[in-house]
Formats: sequence, structure tokens, C-alpha cells
Amino acid sequence: MSKYVAAIDQGTTSTRCILFDRQGNIVSVGQKEHEQIYPKPGWVEHNPDEIWKNTLEVIALARIKASITAADVAAIGITNQRETTVVWNRRTGKPYHNALVWQDTRTGELMARFEREGGIDRFRATTGLPLATYFSGLKLKWLLDHVDGLRADAEKGDALFGNMDTYLIWNLTGGARSSGSRGGIHVTDVTNASRTQLMNLRTLQWDESMLNAFDIPRAMLPAIKSSSEVYGHVQSDALPGVPIAGALGDQHAALVGQACFEPGMAKNTYGTGCFLVMNTGDELQLSEKGLLTTIAYKFGDQPVQYALEGSIAIAGALVQWVRDNLGLIEKSSDIEKLAQSVEDNGGTYFVPAFSGLYAPYWRNDARGVIAGLTRYVTKGHIARAVLEATAYQTVDVVNAMQQDSGIELKSLRVDGGMVANQMLMQFQSDMLDAQVVAPAVAETTALGAAYAAGLAVGYWKDLDDLRKNWAVAQTWNPAMQQEDRTRLYKGWQKAVTKSFGWEE
Ligand code: G3P
Repeated sequence: MSKYVAAIDQGTTSTRCILFDRQGNIVSVGQKEHEQIYPKPGWVEHNPDEIWKNTLEVIALARIKASITAADVAAIGITNQRETTVVWNRRTGKPYHNALVWQDTRTGELMARFEREGGIDRFRATTGLPLATYFSGLKLKWLLDHVDGLRADAEKGDALFGNMDTYLIWNLTGGARSSGSRGGIHVTDVTNASRTQLMNLRTLQWDESMLNAFDIPRAMLPAIKSSSEVYGHVQSDALPGVPIAGALGDQHAALVGQACFEPGMAKNTYGTGCFLVMNTGDELQLSEKGLLTTIAYKFGDQPVQYALEGSIAIAGALVQWVRDNLGLIEKSSDIEKLAQSVEDNGGTYFVPAFSGLYAPYWRNDARGVIAGLTRYVTKGHIARAVLEATAYQTVDVVNAMQQDSGIELKSLRVDGGMVANQMLMQFQSDMLDAQVVAPAVAETTALGAAYAAGLAVGYWKDLDDLRKNWAVAQTWNPAMQQEDRTRLYKGWQKAVTKSFGWEE
């Protein structure tokens, strides 16, 4: 019997392969960062070839560290940065263009045109999403409109579209057809498909009216599958013959890894961005407060589960920016010490609207601002404002979530890199006036993908097996006076208004 399940987590900044055991413990990790390409202000690209190469390397690394063979691995689950859009040639496997990353805002003009014709919410009833530069549909349209010969190839079925899940599964299952191989399998899962703005949330199929609206040839789209089933088997030497049996967008995977299987349960992942997702069960709820309706997960032929999501584009990325672009700190973790060098934010607020503002505002015209500066302000205050920005943005989303769902969040499960920051987590609990809880296995995203794959092959029996693996590592309780909470949040809201109107 195989000992482990492998998860490949293809994230915004790095690709990892993690091996898990039955208790959800990490056995080994391989990780590699890839280049962030910024050709113009607001444009963000990744090189798909580099990511594919890194994927093979991190699998090999995880294998070597654990000294295992393919026979020790029951299944592979894939999880990925969502919305990031790749188009490649079926015959050669070559990408037509760098991947357009979810944060990329080059579709701003396209978006504005669609908005003028029918308003920002014109596709919400079908797709659960407002018009935004964030989702894959408009990115794909941009590529079809700008890359020579791509549309003709797409119409012939030679050019394939995918998010990172699709691209990796296609490559792992054989890639370009050769004499010895039938070629890669072209699939996606419902959670990833729900972020393209091309899928109908009720039928779970590509929606004809959306394909027409964005002028997308159907022949280039992958087949939509559940999040937990055997899609195919690995053909490369990486883990030969192992079934690829699960796929989930990373935020949906984290919801699963956090065992949020009941309606009303929510998790917040503090990564590059910050993504708060609440399970709403088999009921589809359309948001009126600026949240997204999305698919939580669908395990095999079980009913689909829906979720509400508040997406925040910039969280940990702001700390990286302070490190790399301002040089205020040497490594990301230094931000906490710098922030602790002062008592409070000194009246300073940092609104990190680098890619516009996502939930609940959806303002593509917003750009970053630092507000409330006086000569009193030091780099310590800036560091504090940087960390507080993530907490305030989460409060914005939780307020919208409570209004949309009617459910009061008493406790929030958290994960992601920034959870290591004690000051931020305490401040988050203070600002939410709610308990914040981190689980023992912090790698919830990879764990969720492993769970989806393991369920499909019977490595784990059912959800109860997964619930048992979840344990608390740390809890933060609110310890702030209401009047301070109100004062700080007012300052934040004022600063947010200053970020609007920079981009027409
Ligand atoms: O929607 C974008 C999100 O999936 C990216 O997540 O963790 O790679 O920043 P992450």
C-alpha cells in the first residue's frame, strides 16, 4: 500500500511539491521560485516553460528528500495560483506568450468597454463574478486579440487554453503528442473553471453566452471535471504511472485543507494576496456586497459545494515590495521587528491598491497611497501601516461577508506565510473582534489538494478522516477597546477613498 500523497502547489511566486502522510503531516518538501516579469506598469507575466521545468525539479527534490519511488505515492493533487492564463500549442507544447498573471491589469480598457455597455455586474448572475481585470476570460481575449495567428490556431483546436492546473496536468500526462504517447490530457476542475468568468455556475459547463461575449473559440477550452477524480496518469519520469486525482484552485484547496466542510465555516489565507472564503453549502448565493460567488469544491459525483469569497490582491506582496523596492528591510520577517519599534501607526495608513482594489470595492481606477503622513512618521510607522493594511482589508471583506451571508464570524481559521507574524494576527483579532485560529498543519493549500487526490483513490475514506487531521496550533483573542477599533477603521476607510481615481 502506498505511503504518501503528493501535492503540487503552483503558486504566484514559487512551485512546491509536498508529500503528506495519512495524518496530514508533511514528509518532505521541494520548492523553487520563478521569475516575476513586469514588462510595463501594471503588467505581470510568468514564463510557463520555467514553471514546468521547476515543477519537475521540485517533484524530484521532494522524492530525493523522502527517499521514495513512484510506488510509494498513491496519487497527486494539483493546486495553483488561479486565473493566471496560458495558451500553448497542442503539437509542440510551446506557449504562444508568457502567462498573464492574475494581478495583471492590461485588460483594464477591455473591461471598461464591457462595463460601459452593460455595467460591472452584467455577468454576475451567470458567473458569480463582476467585470474585473482579475479573471481569465478577458486575459484570454486579450491574447487572442494581440498574438499573431493565435485565433486561427485556436479555432482549429491547435492552440489550447488553461490555467496553471490545466497546463501542468497536460504536461505531466504526456504533453505534445509523439510516436510513443497519445498526448497530454486537457482538463480543468470546477473551482479553476469558476475563475475564468466563462463557466456557468449552475450547469458547471462553459457558458455559450460568455464565449460569445468574449469571442472565445470553444475548441481551445479544457473539459471541466470535478475536483477529485482520476484525470490521468503521469507519463514523465517525475512520478511515472502515479494517478493525478485531484485539482483545486489554491484558495479552494486551503478551504478543504482547513476542513471547512460545513456552511458558514471560513478561512483566510495570507499569501501574496489574501483570500477569505466561506463555505455556503450546496446553495449558490449571489453577493450584493462586492464578494465573489465561487465553487468551494466538488468531490467526484457528490453535489457541488459553493462559496463566497473576498479576494484581496496585495497582502504579503506589500511586505515584499517594502523589502525589494524600498529596501526598508532585508528579509520579509524583519517587518515585524520594525513595526514593533513604534507604539502605533502614528496616523499613517497604506492602501496597497497596486492592481486596483479587489473585494469589496472592485475599483480598477485605484492605485496605492500612503496617507496621513507628518514629519513625526518613521519607517517603523510605515512598517506598521504595511502590516495593518492586510488586517483592515480583511475587515472590509468580513463586513461584506456578514452582510451577504447573515452569518456572524466568531472565529476565523487562518493560514499562509503571514500567519507567522504574531503582531499581525493579534491586530487581526483585535480589528475583527473575533477569535483567529491557526491549524497545526500550516500548509493547508497543498494539504487540500492532497486530500482531494487521496479521497479519489481511497487513501482517505471520507471527510471524517480529514476532519480528524485538523488540530489547533495557536489562537489569538481580541484585546482592543471598541473606541480604538472604530477610530483606526475610520482612518483606513478615509485612506481608501484617497486611492480612487488614478487610472481612467
Ligand atoms: O486568485 C489568485 C490566487 O489564487 C493566488 O494565490 O497564494 O499564489 O498568491 P497565491
